[in-house]
Amino acid sequence: MAEAFNELTLPDAKVERYAALAEEIASVLDGEPNLTARMATVASMLAASFDAFFWTGFYVVDPDKERELVVGPYQGTLGCLRIAFGRGVCGAAAASGQTQLVPDVHAFPGHIACDGRSMSEVVVPVFDKAGKLIAVLDVDSDKPAAFDEIDVEWLELILRNTFSA
Ligand code: SME
Repeated sequence: MAEAFNELTLPDAKVERYAALAEEIASVLDGEPNLTARMATVASMLAASFDAFFWTGFYVVDPDKERELVVGPYQGTLGCLRIAFGRGVCGAAAASGQTQLVPDVHAFPGHIACDGRSMSEVVVPVFDKAGKLIAVLDVDSDKPAAFDEIDVEWLELILRNTFSA
């Protein structure tokens, strides 16, 4: 699945792959203002591009609840529906506004195991143009320590370009 993206073949090297993907996401979303469409497209394109991405999707800030995330567009197995700010890795990213890079989910206090196969994850906060937190992107892997600073850097860049620019 990761070899081909629609008709496009992505480069093998991780940085080059992210760079091609970032351009492709920007081009697919050009002119599309709907937030759900933008999140669904980012989740789909990320999940299709990296074999290690076992669960890829958004938890959005629920406008009707105080400090609670509700599941948004995602690719993968059944996810938890709601996560309070401060709970688990997603809740920590939402509460702090900081990216969480977790090589071993079992070592993270309060980690929420929606799917027991999840071993490592990265969660990146998503801000709108005004700088308000609107969601977090959660990427889980069934492999330990699947993510590094390259993932952090490129996921943050893609999210900034897609939702804050
Ligand atoms: N791993 C997350 C929960 C969400 S899912 O795994 C889809 C967490 O601890 O925040």
